Amino acid sequence: MRKIIVAIDGHSACGKSTTAKEVAKILGYFYVDSGAMYRAVTVYFLEHHVAITNPKEVNRALSKLKVSFKINPQGITETYLNGLNVERKIRKMKVSEWVSQVSAIKEVRDAMVEEQRRMGKKKGIVMDGRDIGSVVFPEAELKLFLTADLLVRAFRRQKELLERDELVDLDSVIENLRKRDEYDSSRKVSPLVKPKGAIVIDTTHVTIDEQVDEVVRLATGKIVQQP
Ligand code: DC
Repeated sequence: MRKIIVAIDGHSACGKSTTAKEVAKILGYFYVDSGAMYRAVTVYFLEHHVAITNPKEVNRALSKLKVSFKINPQGITETYLNGLNVERKIRKMKVSEWVSQVSAIKEVRDAMVEEQRRMGKKKGIVMDGRDIGSVVFPEAELKLFLTADLLVRAFRRQKELLERDELVDLDSVIENLRKRDEYDSSRKVSPLVKPKGAIVIDTTHVTIDEQVDEVVRLATGKIVQQP
């Protein structure tokens, strides 16, 4: 059966990763959380006090870091930075506060996009992010753009943080999401846009299971279609 690329973009915290992960499992595809890559770079920059306004320092840091993914025994993909598991670290609020600025740096994007394209060479991949259907894989067979009301997204993100033992008040979560949406959509390099040909899914009143079913249905339609 032919393999396809499923590109899922959209605002922060509208269930992109949860959906993408589950869809990849059902299709037997490799899942790549491109946001996790930018988050891992942010962890490195924070830990090594990289001056993000200094291109020389940024390039030096980029040449020293390697972001990769490994599937754990439970079948869940986890993010590694220079061989160390950073899955928990990258989800911290501190990283969320800096990641939009780090991911807006052209050199950082160039390095990550190159790696993402390498991972998608053989297809059979579900990748989620902000520029997957617009920049990384504009030729993807299935492009989706997810969105949801800000308050609903904030509740979901707060719950997620709580599950990782981080208690953050709702106002701070709303503020972080609002700022990131604005920053991600207005940055010069690869801003968050609805990719050409993408199908919009509003997840405000939809459960994750319904979301997953819909994406699997759409993907299956593309897989059986003649190229
Ligand atoms: O999906 P996420 O919230 O984990 O992504 C973290 C940040 O990374 C987000 O604020 C924007 C950035 N990002 C990006 O610029 N391009 C991508 N393809 C994925 C994420």
